[in-house]
Amino acid sequence: MEAKSFLLHFIFFIVIFSHFSHSTSSSILNKPSNCSSSASLLSRNAERLIKSFNLMPEHDVNVIAKGSPDAPRLIERQINFPETIGIRNTLGGPSVQQFGHYGGYYSLVHTKSAKMFYFFFESRTNNTDPVVIWLSGGPGCSSSVALFYENGPFTISDDLSLSWNDFGWDKVSNLIYVDQPVGTGFSYTSDQSDLRHDENGVSNDLYDFLQAFFKEHPKYAKNDFYITGESYAGHYVPALASRVHYGNKNKEGIPINLKGFAIGNGLTNPEIQYGAYGDYALGMKLISESYHESLKQDYAECQSSIKQCNLNGGEECSNALVDCDIIFSKIMSKIEGTNFYDLRKKCVGSLCYDFSNMEAFLNQENVRKALGVGDIEFVTISTTVYKAMLQDWMVNLADKIPALVEDGISLLVYAGEYDLICNWLGNSRWVEQMSWSGQKDFGETKTVPFLVDGKEAGLMKNHGPLTFLKVYDAGHMVPMDQPKASLQMLQTWMRMQG
Ligand SMILES: *[C@@H]1O[C@H](CO)[C@@H](O)[C@H](O)[C@H]1NC(C)=O
Ligand SMILES: *[C@@H]1O[C@H](CO)[C@@H](O)[C@H](O)[C@H]1NC(C)=O
Repeated sequence: MEAKSFLLHFIFFIVIFSHFSHSTSSSILNKPSNCSSSASLLSRNAERLIKSFNLMPEHDVNVIAKGSPDAPRLIERQINFPETIGIRNTLGGPSVQQFGHYGGYYSLVHTKSAKMFYFFFESRTNNTDPVVIWLSGGPGCSSSVALFYENGPFTISDDLSLSWNDFGWDKVSNLIYVDQPVGTGFSYTSDQSDLRHDENGVSNDLYDFLQAFFKEHPKYAKNDFYITGESYAGHYVPALASRVHYGNKNKEGIPINLKGFAIGNGLTNPEIQYGAYGDYALGMKLISESYHESLKQDYAECQSSIKQCNLNGGEECSNALVDCDIIFSKIMSKIEGTNFYDLRKKCVGSLCYDFSNMEAFLNQENVRKALGVGDIEFVTISTTVYKAMLQDWMVNLADKIPALVEDGISLLVYAGEYDLICNWLGNSRWVEQMSWSGQKDFGETKTVPFLVDGKEAGLMKNHGPLTFLKVYDAGHMVPMDQPKASLQMLQTWMRMQG
């Protein structure tokens, strides 16, 4: 009862920090509530927590008035970052003008009025490099978080100038970032019914986005294509891979040359991953043996709720989220103040990380003009989008994967070793337990060191189309913590499919 009333972490990124919720949970509990549905209790508490941490002071979701004259023009445009913003070539790198950088909107044809915002960066090396799409988690976080703090072409300085990221993934790929589900980042709609509630809706929108993208950029449709993402994208990535594969097989639109999909510190198989929390926490000495034992009770309840969710869907799924979140909250109660995305760190600020430079940068008038976003406000994290997806969390997306790997489409699952929330142990377990024709051989395959500059940077296991990688000295955001290793990981993995 007590536990059911708090917590909500965005996986991935946002989070509502459960340790904050401990300090504020009493005030939440004291508020009278007439709500019998745990899901709506959960979502109201999420909102309260988010508001109280001032994550989204004014603008929570981009649902604009119908026929709004402020809607931006629906075109993509080449961004001239150096002219509008000024970019530093601190390391004497190539000039930005040499490369095509685009931003803009595509209308989603199967929605009432949704427009999806994206950035597209041509490869710094060769236009024939694969096309890679990146999806950040949340649900409801803008992919600009990854663009500016993880694997994008630029990093932002405190004076809001941009510098080349030496390890941006655009060094080996033509790289797309989208703000999704609709309502997130700069993406918007004028119709509430365009907000998404499950991976069907999410993957159909992304498929329509990709069709629009390749129509506009036909020369890239021939390139190899990879889907990547982090955290809650452990749901989005397999759903989209499956959708693209289906579209190709059924000759629906422009064929997309899908070669592989990669999930970084994701939530993919909740039943197995929630079962791993206690074991990971014990292994990292966050909790005692006896506490670990007591968590098994909580897991039994969580597990049966997840099973109900995957049988029946609907409310059972948001109930399962409440039941299972108890485990995470109880662990956090033992390590208050720790950054659960990276156990080596303290949680500082409302997000454990400080993304304010990105927000300030994207809200500058000249930047907004360059991007052509009109009056649309930038929503870093949308609670409305998050809440709309509450029944999607506990759905097992690993079920979609065997059909893909059997058809030779590769999967890379990687995880930074110090992340608690989507820890490597839970990810390793679902990968091992996934039933496919190569399961036994994968299980018997030896783990080998992953070498970067001759030094061991992780542990890797590969058999056929399936690869698992545990990354050393990294938390939830591997490309932020280990930029060089993450770029090499992407490059090595894509070459393996060659
Ligand atoms: C619960 O509260 C809401 C608003 O606070 C109110 O509209 C609704 O009628 C209440 N429901 C019950 C069953 O009391
Ligand atoms: C780009 O890659 C293609 C195919 O591998 C190659 O033929 C071409 O020479 C490369 N271009 C540059 C500028 O390296």
